[in-house]
Amino acid sequence: MAHCMESALLLLLLLGSASFTDGNRCVDAAEACTADERCQQLRSEYVARCLGRAAPGGRPGPGGCVRSRCRRALRRFFARGPPALTHALLFCGCEGSACAERRRQTFAPACAFSGPGLVPPSCLEPLERCERSRLCRPRLLAFQASCAPAPGSRDRCPEEGGPRCLRVYAGLIGTVVTPNYLDNVSARVAPWCGCAASGNRREECEAFRKLFTRNPCLDGAIQAFDSLQPSVLQDQTAGCCFPRVSWLYALTALALQALL
Ligand SMILES: *[C@@H]1O[C@H](CO)[C@@H](O)[C@H](O)[C@H]1NC(C)=O
Repeated sequence: MAHCMESALLLLLLLGSASFTDGNRCVDAAEACTADERCQQLRSEYVARCLGRAAPGGRPGPGGCVRSRCRRALRRFFARGPPALTHALLFCGCEGSACAERRRQTFAPACAFSGPGLVPPSCLEPLERCERSRLCRPRLLAFQASCAPAPGSRDRCPEEGGPRCLRVYAGLIGTVVTPNYLDNVSARVAPWCGCAASGNRREECEAFRKLFTRNPCLDGAIQAFDSLQPSVLQDQTAGCCFPRVSWLYALTALALQALL
């Protein structure tokens, strides 16, 4: 309720100003999630589980992060949260680095994504762990089937199209191949791993990494989602706030009349 009033006020303040159109979409997405009870509850759960850094061996790290619990909470967020809202958080389009940094931090990467060491392992390591995992393996196969370009082509994408690719990508978050944005100046994504130290299996390693980084099907799906995002979020928040705008308008008008 208080939040709705705040949003409505903010809306009044911003209407007609140029900043309204080029605002931070990741902030918009976070606000839309906050306004939805289920999204907000699931997000609070993973934030509480994912604070702090991961430590080796599944012990709680500094700040109490147990990676397996954090990842389970993230999987629940995507499995049970409203996709329009969870996907808006995950795929919000950014122009500046402040927005991109926020997007990179969305899923508490110190616990869910990187570490516990300082140097990322070879990508063959998470790949092999995923292939041995009953949870991860089908999700990775679905990601390959729905997001990888056709063999021998760089940009012929699976026919089911972008929305399915985004859904299965989101399904990888919280597995041993959890991907994230790599920096705050691009939209490149990958699991936390590299291919420098992969010896004679370099090609296999690069092939896995290319599923994520500069994959034209995944990048295209993210861009297509982003071009629809403002209308998606408006639909989500409309039920919450827009009716209040009218009486706030009336109140503002009355207050102005009193002043004049
Ligand atoms: C972007 O990332 C760099 C390197 O990690 C960091 O130094 C910088 O503070 C980040 N920018 C923002 C706006 O957070």
